[in-house]
Parts: sequence; structure tokens; C-alpha cells
Amino acid sequence: HSLKNARKALDNEPLLRFREAKKVLGDVYGELKDNVAELEAVYGEIKDEKIVASEQRQEVEAIRDSIKTIMDTFQRDNMKVVFFGRTSNGKSTTINAMLHEKVLPQGMGHTTCCFLQVQGCDEEKGYLQLDDNEDKKLEMEMLSKIGDALSNENEDLPAMGQDSLLKIFHPKQTETGENRLLQNDVVILDSPGVDLSPEFDGWIDKHCLDADVFVLVSNAESTLTQAEKNFFLRVSKKLSKPNVFILNNRWDASAADMDNIESVKKQHLTRFRQFLVDELEVCNEREVNDRIFFVSAREVLEARLKARGIITRNYQADGHGTRALEFQNFERHFEQCISKSAIHTKFEAHNRRAHEMIGKMRTNLNTVLTSAAEQRTNLQNTLNENTRLFNECRVNFSTFEKAYREQTERLRAEVHLKVSADFFE
Ligand code: GTP
Ligand code: MG
Repeated sequence: HSLKNARKALDNEPLLRFREAKKVLGDVYGELKDNVAELEAVYGEIKDEKIVASEQRQEVEAIRDSIKTIMDTFQRDNMKVVFFGRTSNGKSTTINAMLHEKVLPQGMGHTTCCFLQVQGCDEEKGYLQLDDNEDKKLEMEMLSKIGDALSNENEDLPAMGQDSLLKIFHPKQTETGENRLLQNDVVILDSPGVDLSPEFDGWIDKHCLDADVFVLVSNAESTLTQAEKNFFLRVSKKLSKPNVFILNNRWDASAADMDNIESVKKQHLTRFRQFLVDELEVCNEREVNDRIFFVSAREVLEARLKARGIITRNYQADGHGTRALEFQNFERHFEQCISKSAIHTKFEAHNRRAHEMIGKMRTNLNTVLTSAAEQRTNLQNTLNENTRLFNECRVNFSTFEKAYREQTERLRAEVHLKVSADFFE
């Protein structure tokens, strides 16, 4: 049992690293927040503007606000993967296979009609949300009506443009087990066929700028189309060195043509390597081998559904074992890549900001300490001056007192003399 747990932990490792980084960053910001609160309280007690100037007070308030904003943001930070490819290449099937569950509508012809984003939720029952209406939850059953182009029941529903987004909140924990990807903050975006719309730029700006990984699902029975290439050429112009994986899906078709399998594979490999290394320039000759895979999403999905007891018969063609291993190999590299990229792009910025804020707070505190020291010197000087004056007064006073006393004595003696003289006269 413990071996099983250990293996599970190892499998989860790259994804867990992201959560771990999030936790560490949360602790750092939590501590920073406490320190700022303490500083604010101390400043609050010092009313003297000469010691804590309003500039320093305002800076501490601004730091407190940005800490709050950043803490809210990174709680929502996730690892995002976007799937692209021509209609019917098997994007939705691949995502379902990775989720071990048929979450997205899949099927022949043009199916996915808008952007569908799958993310985990803690609720027992999943729900949908239209991107422009965050307050309204829709029933999961609506998915097949809104997200599927074949549905003719969506007349009464809000019109979904191809570039609009429907969010699918799927339970992280289901009756048949936990969902590893969703549990670990992976967000998956499915797209309509890239060949259907020339609106690349809008798509990229709207949905892809925060993506950590792109998966191009290609059809191994044909080859990359110009539309698919153009899309990624635009992506690599807008994002610096995007992480791109290529899945040659439907590789089960090769079972019917075993004689040519190696030469077809070689042809695909040469083309895709050239595309990733020379045209897109997103990886080098060494890295590219871990970016291209020959798989059958349908076989993997069905095998996984069968393993969970959801279906009883699954589709398999000759060589399915190799393809299944290749799919797992893809998943391993994908998880390593997405976790590394997300930690790098999302948390490094927060980490830098934390350092900046600590620097600002140090300068702020130093300014206040310097003013306090100046005030102290001033006070000390005033005190010294007062003491000097006081002492001077005291000296003056005692001289005066002595003179007065002498005078009085003298007068008294004189009076005495005079009185007795008068008396005895
Ligand atoms: P759109 O949503 O229309 O853009 O298509 P898509 O890329 O999401 O394709 P989808 O996953 O809906 O799959 C299209 C059809 O291909 C479905 O009938 C799948 O069962 C089938 N299919 C997907 N992957 C494979 C595969 O590896 N092998 C075989 N034989 N069929 C597959
Ligand atoms: Mg689809």
C-alpha cells in the first residue's frame, strides 16, 4: 500500500511542485503581510509628522494593498494548457483521455463550437459558467447543448460565438476517484477546429496569452495543414518561445498499413522537427524528441474508461500497447513542462515583487529611523539648552538670594542699632 502511495507521489511530483511553490509563496506573502501590518500599527501610534512623514505612511498603505492583490491573484494562478488542431483530429478525445473521463463532447464532424475550459471545483457536482456572466451557474447537462455544434437544441440559449468561452467546473473528486490534473490546478482549454476561423489573433489575445503549454493535435493520417502552421507561427510571434507539443493522433490507423509505418513515421518526424526547430524556433534538436508523440487518444480514453468500469468493451488496434506507453510518455513530459513553465512565468514575477517590497519597506523604515534620530538630536539639543538656562538662572538666583540676605541682615542690624539707640537715648 505504501509502495503504491510512494509511486503515486512520484507520479504526481511535477504537478505537486507547482502547488508546493504556491504554498511557499503564500507563506512568504503571509509573513510579509504581518510585517507590514505591524509597521502600520507602529506608525499609527506615532502621531508626529516629523518622525513618520505622510509619504512613508502612504507607501506602507500602498505596499499593504499590493500584497493583498498579489495574494488574491496567485491563489487563482494555475497551469494552463491549450489544445489546437484541425476539426476532428481528436482534441476533445485527447483531453478526455487525459482526464480519464468523458468530460467534453466529442464526435465526428465539427463538434466543439466555442472555447471550452475545464477546471477543477471542490463541489460534488460540476457546473458551467459563461465567461461574461460569472455570477450565473449553469447545469452541466447544458454542455452538450451549448458546446456541441451538432446540437439543434441551443436556439433558446445564449448565442456562443466561436471565440467565446464556456467554463466547465468539473469536480476534483468524483465517485470513481480523484482527478489528478484538475486536483493540481491544471486548467485545460479545448478549441474549435483551427481551420474553421481565420480569427487567430483574437483567439490568441483572448485565450492564449497566459497559456503555459500548447498541444497541437495533428491527424497522423494526413499531415500538418497551413492553417495549423499559421496559427502557431502567430502564437510564437506573440509569446516568446511557447512550449509546443505535437500529438500525431489517430496513429491506430497505422495498424492497417504496417508495411509503411516506419517510413510514414519518419516523414512526420522530419516535418514536425523542422516545424518546431527551424520554423517556430521553439526548441532545439535535442529537446524536440520529447515534444512529438504518436498516439491514439481514442484507444487510451476507452482503455481508461474500461479500467474505471464505465464501459465494458473498448476499441483497440494492433500495437495499442506501444501507443498507450507513448501516450503516458507524452503525459509525463507534458506535466514536467507545464509545471516548470508555470512556476517560472507565474511565480517568478511574484517572487521578484516580494523582494522589491521588502527593499521598499527597508528604505521606508530607514527614513523613519533617520528622522527619529534627528528629532532626538534636536530634542537633546533643546534639553541641553534648557538645562544650561536653568543652571544659569539658579546661579543668578543664588547670587541674588545671597545679596538679598546680606542686605536684609544689614538692614536688620541697622534698624536694630537705630531702634536701641532711640530707645536708650
Ligand atoms: P472538433 O471539436 O470538431 O474540432 O474535433 P476534435 O478535434 O475535438 O475531435 P474529437 O475529439 O471530437 O474526435 C473526432 C472523432 O474522432 C471522434 O469520433 C473520435 O472518437 C475520433 N477519434 C479521436 N481520436 C481518435 C483516434 O486516436 N483514433 C481513432 N480511430 N479515432 C479517433
Ligand atoms: Mg472537439
